[in-house]
Amino acid sequence: MEVGVLGGGTMGSGIVQVAAQNGHKTILVDLNETVLDQSKSKLAKIMARLVEKGKISQDQSYATQANIVYSKDVNDFASCGIVIEAIVEDINVKSKVFSNLESIVSSECILASNTSSLSIASIGSSVSNSSRVIGIHFFNPAPLMPLVEIIPAVQTSEKTLVAAKSLIDAWGKVTVVCKDTPGFIVNRVARPFYGEAMRIYEEGVADFATIDWAMTEIGGFRMGPFTLMDYIGNDVNYTVTETVFTAFYFDPRYKPSFTQKRHAEAGYFGRKSGRGFFDYREGAVNPSPNEDQIVGKQIFERILVMLINEAVDALFLNIGTKEAIDLAMTKGVNYPKGLLLWADQLGLAFVLAKLEALFSEYGEDRYRPSPLLRRMVKSGDTFFG
Ligand code: NAI
Repeated sequence: MEVGVLGGGTMGSGIVQVAAQNGHKTILVDLNETVLDQSKSKLAKIMARLVEKGKISQDQSYATQANIVYSKDVNDFASCGIVIEAIVEDINVKSKVFSNLESIVSSECILASNTSSLSIASIGSSVSNSSRVIGIHFFNPAPLMPLVEIIPAVQTSEKTLVAAKSLIDAWGKVTVVCKDTPGFIVNRVARPFYGEAMRIYEEGVADFATIDWAMTEIGGFRMGPFTLMDYIGNDVNYTVTETVFTAFYFDPRYKPSFTQKRHAEAGYFGRKSGRGFFDYREGAVNPSPNEDQIVGKQIFERILVMLINEAVDALFLNIGTKEAIDLAMTKGVNYPKGLLLWADQLGLAFVLAKLEALFSEYGEDRYRPSPLLRRMVKSGDTFFG
């Protein structure tokens, strides 16, 4: 089956590589010739490195690159069985593009969007046969991150869901099906990792380095929240939070932080600008963490119970199955453990008690425990038996 990818930026280039490595003739279309050239030369470099490391053979490298056609003309998608769109995150642009795509491809062709924050239902509404529209959300970098969220909209047919999921499964990815709601699973459940960390900083409990130390050294996370935000980019991460917050009708649980907003406004984007919460410029010296175990444990547990509460609430609202929610966080953002399994291991009563203590101390809706957590503590159930 021929695969079409629209948009040759960060995500499109990664998705093209995955499809081509899996033996599909793949057509990459971007309006910008320079983007196409860059995508092509970047892939050549990646392939050369993989050959050098002995991960793939020279033949595989040639075959992958030979599978890709670079084009500026969307009409080249005519014989594709699926087109995955990865262009600018703008509903008006995406709507126009989808409506145009429908006039080019066959009636059997699946039309997928890699959107992080727009509703699949609204993208689907721009085509006449919306039953073939679905969300297929890869993570950056697409060739390396195992998780792909599959998001059927209210209009999506079962046939489209099954076909899209089997295709991405066959590419060796870990797929999770999730409801068409803001942030899907990962970008919803992960919000407190950033938000609660910044809140702790704003209260003066600890500085960036200490909070990061608590999450990596005590919590076992691969990266601390501030290092991760600097890596993602404070402008990008702030926008995701603001989008999720707005889309949830301003639920205080997702409230963005002034700390991050000011950093973004100052141009302290993170690694890409040389400075974020930390300083990445040559010769810069960053503060060392205060390695107080008691404070560290408090920080880690406060962020962890907030994450668990999000995961439990996502299950409560059927955003995904319990297996999907745990897989999403371990395979999409490298959490050391699934949050629901973590909750079982900590004890649900312990998690609830911590949340109730925060809720009563602050009196803020942000800390309200999920009804499912209360229900489970009452019944003595666990998530995974
Ligand atoms: P990007 O800015 O790197 O690339 C977008 C590309 O689309 C550009 O090369 C641009 O020339 C091209 N383009 C724009 N309008 C076009 C059109 N009408 N026809 C053809 N090409 C067009 O963006 P990025 O980061 O790759 O994001 C793409 C999509 O993937 C967005 O919807 C984003 O929300 C989503 N996404 C991004 C992730 C990330 O970490 N960057 C992660 C997961 C999803």
